[in-house]
Amino acid sequence: MREIKIQPAKGKLGVLLPGLGAVSTTFIAGVLAVRKGLAKPFGSLTQLNHIRLGRRDENRNPLIKELIALSDMNDLYFAAWDLFEDNAYESAVNAGVLELSLLDQLKDELSAIKPFKAVFEKKYVKRLDGSYVKKYSNKYEAYEALREDIRNFKKANNLDRMIMVWSGSTEIFLKASEVHKTIESFEKGLRENHPDIAPSMIYAWAAIAEGVAYANGAPNLSADLPAMYQFADKMNVPLAGKDFKTGQTLMKTILAPGLKARMLGIGGWFSTNILGNRDGEVLDDPGSFKTKEESKLSVLEQILQPQLYPDLYKDLYHKVRINYYPPRKDNKEGWDNIDIFGWLGYPMQIKIDFLCRDSILAAPIILDLVLFLDLAQRAKFKGIQEWLSFYFKSPIYAPGLYPEHDLFIQLMKLKNTLRVMAGEQEITHLGLDYYI
Ligand SMILES: NC(=O)c1ccc[n+]([C@@H]2O[C@H](COP(=O)([O-])OP(=O)(O)OC[C@H]3O[C@@H](n4cnc5c(N)ncnc54)[C@H](O)[C@@H]3O)[C@@H](O)[C@H]2O)c1
Repeated sequence: MREIKIQPAKGKLGVLLPGLGAVSTTFIAGVLAVRKGLAKPFGSLTQLNHIRLGRRDENRNPLIKELIALSDMNDLYFAAWDLFEDNAYESAVNAGVLELSLLDQLKDELSAIKPFKAVFEKKYVKRLDGSYVKKYSNKYEAYEALREDIRNFKKANNLDRMIMVWSGSTEIFLKASEVHKTIESFEKGLRENHPDIAPSMIYAWAAIAEGVAYANGAPNLSADLPAMYQFADKMNVPLAGKDFKTGQTLMKTILAPGLKARMLGIGGWFSTNILGNRDGEVLDDPGSFKTKEESKLSVLEQILQPQLYPDLYKDLYHKVRINYYPPRKDNKEGWDNIDIFGWLGYPMQIKIDFLCRDSILAAPIILDLVLFLDLAQRAKFKGIQEWLSFYFKSPIYAPGLYPEHDLFIQLMKLKNTLRVMAGEQEITHLGLDYYI
């Protein structure tokens, strides 16, 4: 097996967050609360998950963070950008996810996190209006201004390494075009203000240019472009994305592999949501919804493989709806009606009513991505990090492959990558050697 050299996880790790809204502030406040011993980091693999090593009769099950050096939560430093000037405390209060009694215990540290002005254009997120925006005459200038913010933050806090996670709003649907093909065409596009270059792409380009690993928590393309892959490769930067896998899609990628494993057919899967946070308001715009819809729809097709099982899945009617409903705030309700059929075609139904909390599900994903991307960076991994597909609705993947959506395959991929990084044997679950 190839030995993978990993730099030690020493020193300070900067976390750069474009977008200081519900998810970002729930993540930051959560890290601060855990550091103070006020709460536990439930939902985070890097903090809680054990990993089996070797044969089953060896009983070796260390925590992931005992197997492989991850940065300590105490070494994280936060920076953000937003088009609203609210600091992290004000934004967290406004998001209404965490109780005031908790936020008030973290008030000094949260209030000290003030966003940089955003690179923002309304045409890419139609439902937002904010004035706390950088002035630039072309997108190249915007890119340079972001690079300067990154460098200033690094210097001011004497940081060793940094990670960027896009936690900004979902932008309108864009397709990859000529301008996204090569490093040269993209840089030309930045100078010429090309309309196919959205703000999230400018942040990603700035991160890569500064040697900072980048993950995209939203469904917009951002770094999922050939030019970005080439640039990340050139700059030795790891990339991950896109769209955090949290509520309804998490359930889908847990349930669909199970139904398929038992060769049960699916005639229809209707998913609808009500949510009332700012994300819900942004997604009320058809342009932003289209981006989200594409991301949410793609998972079943890949998991169920209708081309291999036409009788079971070819006619599946899959519909996804998101309804903005302010009274519900961040506490989304996601309903699924699944029409399935079994032996001889007899129909059955499954109903799911998931009363979830969007940002509570997303925050530990950011923590894990930060720590795992930092690990990838220290291991000199570059480009697409498919082993982090576990965290995304629309995982990015190498050209010529297809994305892996099945949560259990994704988990195996993630854990085997960690085993290999640590010089341990990967686990196939074959188990024949216990009997033969
Ligand atoms: N919470 C979840 O379960 C979940 C799951 C998957 C994806 N996401 C995605 O994560 C993102 C954040 O979700 P949220 O609930 O925190 O939304 P939010 O609306 O509370 O926060 C997003 C923030 O980004 C800011 N923003 C928008 N464009 C920006 C730009 N160009 N530069 C800097 N800031 C910008 C907005 O002003 C806002 O404060 C959304 O795109 C959402 O679709 C969330």
